[in-house]
Amino acid sequence: MTDRPADLPRDPRHDPVLREEVIAALAIAPGERHVDATFGAGGYTRAMLAAGAEVVACDRDPDAIAEGQALVAEADSRLTLIHGRFGEIDRLLAERGIESVDGITFDIGVSSMQLDQGERGFSFQKDGPLDMRMAQEGESAAEWLNRADEDEIANVLFHYGDERQSRRVARAIVAARPLSRTAELATVIRKALRHPPGAPKDPSTKSFQAIRIHINGELDELVAGLAAAERVLRPGGRLAVVSFHSTEDRIVKNFLRERSGGDAAGSRHRPAPVAAARAPTFQTPARKVRPGKAEEARNPRARSATLRSAVRTAAPAWPGDTMTKEAISC
Ligand SMILES: C[S@@+](CC[C@H](N)C(=O)[O-])C[C@H]1O[C@@H](n2cnc3c(N)ncnc32)[C@H](O)[C@@H]1O
Repeated sequence: MTDRPADLPRDPRHDPVLREEVIAALAIAPGERHVDATFGAGGYTRAMLAAGAEVVACDRDPDAIAEGQALVAEADSRLTLIHGRFGEIDRLLAERGIESVDGITFDIGVSSMQLDQGERGFSFQKDGPLDMRMAQEGESAAEWLNRADEDEIANVLFHYGDERQSRRVARAIVAARPLSRTAELATVIRKALRHPPGAPKDPSTKSFQAIRIHINGELDELVAGLAAAERVLRPGGRLAVVSFHSTEDRIVKNFLRERSGGDAAGSRHRPAPVAAARAPTFQTPARKVRPGKAEEARNPRARSATLRSAVRTAAPAWPGDTMTKEAISC
């Protein structure tokens, strides 16, 4: 007996975005093996289990893995939780004797739990150490901001945050160094952008997002994760990706367009490509899905979300680890 995803309770720690739509795209048959590549609070995993799947879930944040142990205990051997990066999900699965799966799902970005804990340093609304590391290892946001030169900071703000005044913000950050707290950084950005106190949209949103994407190497991870998914999905297996940022969505869209043969004729910007020589590894992707008004009203995080999904063909995975350079950048 399986439950409808819409009937499942919502976790107060993290309301999973587009949960019903993701489960519909995965078309889970009971007994299938599915990967939740971004476990978080386990919202998608719970829905996959309720649909009758066996789930292997992964997260790079050790806190998510520790908190997920309660669900592992509830799931009656149908859930395996792995601490690691989804960019190497094929290796993590192979280490557990799993060569192929029926579905794989990515819910890219940061969880509400990470944002809500000031001490993780992700939020401009809660003061805490300037950290932002999902995996709680490697270079922190403070370490990077205190050593990087102005150009490097400006480029990150521009490319990963769409911050049009990236040079002005980067200059202010360099002048205010050393920085150690999120509240300090938010104040520097607001001042640089002449933000009137109490105005509705906080201008530090874009820069915080950009710094987080850079610190966690999120775009490289996404590219590696998509290629790994192509390698582990069985013919007929389903891929679902929810993203929250236009650059991430472009990477997913271009990956699926390239891998489904949509590039075979080339384009005005791109000569007839590599793609023409290779068999498509995905069928034509489903139309992109956006949250409905009710979900956007209930969960403001949903407003920038996009779901893309596609079904794996029987063609061998393309060689190499990543997409072609053209497909990432166009
Ligand atoms: C948006 S949340 C996922 C929420 C989840 N779908 C749910 O319903 O609770 C994203 C999660 O993915 C994790 N994550 C982000 N990038 C990752 C990566 N490259 N590898 C593994 N986990 C990652 C984050 O630590 C975070 O817990």
